[in-house]
Amino acid sequence: MQHEVLDYAVQHTTPPHPILDELERYTHLHTLSPQMLSGPYQGMLLSFITQMVQPRRILEVGAFTGYTAICMAQYLPPDGEVHTIEVNDEHAYIIQKFVEKAGLTDKVKLYIGDAATVIPVLNEIFDLVFLDAGKLDYAKHYELALSRTRSGGFILADNILWDGKVLTDDQEATTVAIRNFNKMVHEDTRVDNLLLPLRDGLMVIRKK
Ligand SMILES: C[S@@+](CC[C@H](N)C(=O)[O-])C[C@H]1O[C@@H](n2cnc3c(N)ncnc32)[C@H](O)[C@@H]1O
Repeated sequence: MQHEVLDYAVQHTTPPHPILDELERYTHLHTLSPQMLSGPYQGMLLSFITQMVQPRRILEVGAFTGYTAICMAQYLPPDGEVHTIEVNDEHAYIIQKFVEKAGLTDKVKLYIGDAATVIPVLNEIFDLVFLDAGKLDYAKHYELALSRTRSGGFILADNILWDGKVLTDDQEATTVAIRNFNKMVHEDTRVDNLLLPLRDGLMVIRKK
C-alpha cells in the first residue's frame, strides 16, 4: 500500500487502547528489534477480526512483547483465551507485565518455547490462529496449526508480501520460503484463502 494511503487509513481508524501505546514505547526502549511489533493499524485489524469472528480459543505463534495478543484478548468473549507462543524467554517479563496492566491475565496463556514443540502438546482446538513467528517456519507452523483449527475456523499469516519481494525474482531464503508458503496455501484443497495486500500482506485462510 502506498504510504500516503496507509497514513490516511491510520488517521481515520480508531486508535488502540492507551496501554498498547505504552507497550509500544516500552518495546522501543527495552528490546533490540522493536520493529517486530505489529503497531496500531495491524493491531486494530486483529481486534476487529476478533470481534467479527468471536473466537473462544485463539492461537498466536510469535508473541514478541505481547502487543497483538493483547489486541485480540481485549475483545474475547468472557470464556475466551489467547494461547500465545514465544521462543525468546527474554520477552516473558514484558508480556506478563503488560497483560497484567491490561487486566487480561485470565485471558492470555503464554508458552515459552519453540512453536513446533508447543503446538502439538496444546490440548485445544482453535477458532482463530495468528501466525507471526519465523517466516522460514511458516509452512511447518501452518500444518501444525491447521491440525488444531476447527472446521470453519480461520488462520491469519502476516508479512506474506515480504516488502513486495515475493513479486520479484529475489532468491533470498526468507523470500523463497514465503513465496512457497503462499503457493502452498493457495493450492491447499483443505482451505479457502484470501490474500489481503494490507501493510506487508495478510493471508486470510479458512479451514473447510
Ligand atoms: C514478528 S514477532 C511477533 C510480533 C507480535 N505478534 C506483535 O505483533 O507484537 C515474531 C516473534 O516470533 C518469535 N519466534 C520466532 N521463531 C519462533 C518459534 N519457532 N516459536 C515461537 N516463537 C518464535 C520471535 O522471537 C519474535 O518475538
